[in-house]
Amino acid sequence: MKTGFPLFPDQASTMASRVDALYFYLVAVSAFMSLLIAVLIIYFAIKYRRRTESFLPTPVEGSLKLEIAWSVIPLLISLSFFFWGASLFFAMNRPPPGALEIYVVGKQWMWKFQHLDGQREINELHVPVGRPVRLTMGSEDVIHSFFVPAFRVKRDVLPGRFVSTWFEATRPGRYHLFCAEYCGTKHSGMTGWVEVMEPVAFQNWLSQGAGAGSLSDAGSKLFIQHACNTCHRPDSQARGPNLEGLLGKPVRLQSGQTVIADEQYIRESIVAPNAKLVEGFQPLMPTFQGLISEEGLLQLTAYIKSLSKGAPPPGEMAPPVNERGDRSK
Ligand code: CUA
Repeated sequence: MKTGFPLFPDQASTMASRVDALYFYLVAVSAFMSLLIAVLIIYFAIKYRRRTESFLPTPVEGSLKLEIAWSVIPLLISLSFFFWGASLFFAMNRPPPGALEIYVVGKQWMWKFQHLDGQREINELHVPVGRPVRLTMGSEDVIHSFFVPAFRVKRDVLPGRFVSTWFEATRPGRYHLFCAEYCGTKHSGMTGWVEVMEPVAFQNWLSQGAGAGSLSDAGSKLFIQHACNTCHRPDSQARGPNLEGLLGKPVRLQSGQTVIADEQYIRESIVAPNAKLVEGFQPLMPTFQGLISEEGLLQLTAYIKSLSKGAPPPGEMAPPVNERGDRSK
């Protein structure tokens, strides 16, 4: 797609060519249908035109075969949009296991990134090539939208909750990052760059920021600062659920429902503790709405995630991903 007059952005992620293929298919089907209809209109208008004043056309009885054909064929074509689109949608919404975790906060008017190791950046995101990257994103104020055209990634970032998306860059380089949701006067300036680096260069870059303390360390400090540890503890003194190994596990609620403890659940449980009360516990926890910044919430989430047994300790990278077999579909 690199010509003198580029109609499309670079294809720089595993998803890019798949998104483009579906897009071309939609364009091709639309163009074919439009052309077919236009040509038939002109052809029939000429063929069946009224030839004399007294001309009476012969009555048409209709044809069941024809009617079934022109109902079923378009139905199948439409369903192909659906199934193709749905498979892409699922692929885009399911980060492969072992993805590199990066936390993102959108605010008027900048993008803030935090790596697990503690590296922080603004309007600039460094990622390694050939490795899936999962972004957990929150907003401090209004709706923003994280958009990297070259990766075909666009995700609304909403206040009051976490959302996530993922991508895997396939080519080193610098790619433009935009905010794609009008968010105030300087919305158009809420841009940045994603710097895709070779894995070794990325490791070097990461280690330059070491010393800042990892994200989960920062979360652990907040955890103690807000005295969360006085209730959330593994022993019998606990007045709140034990948080060890919580992330990703099902949780039984007082209401009888079961939910999966994902990032969004943890965030909600901090700002609105009684929304999903865990079975067997009293509604004692105060809300921390407004007391902890969006970045703080991400840090706490990273900390709670780090308590999960079997998860790599924060600061230590999971091995580079080779198991991409099932990721292409
Ligand atoms: Cu943020 Cu537009």
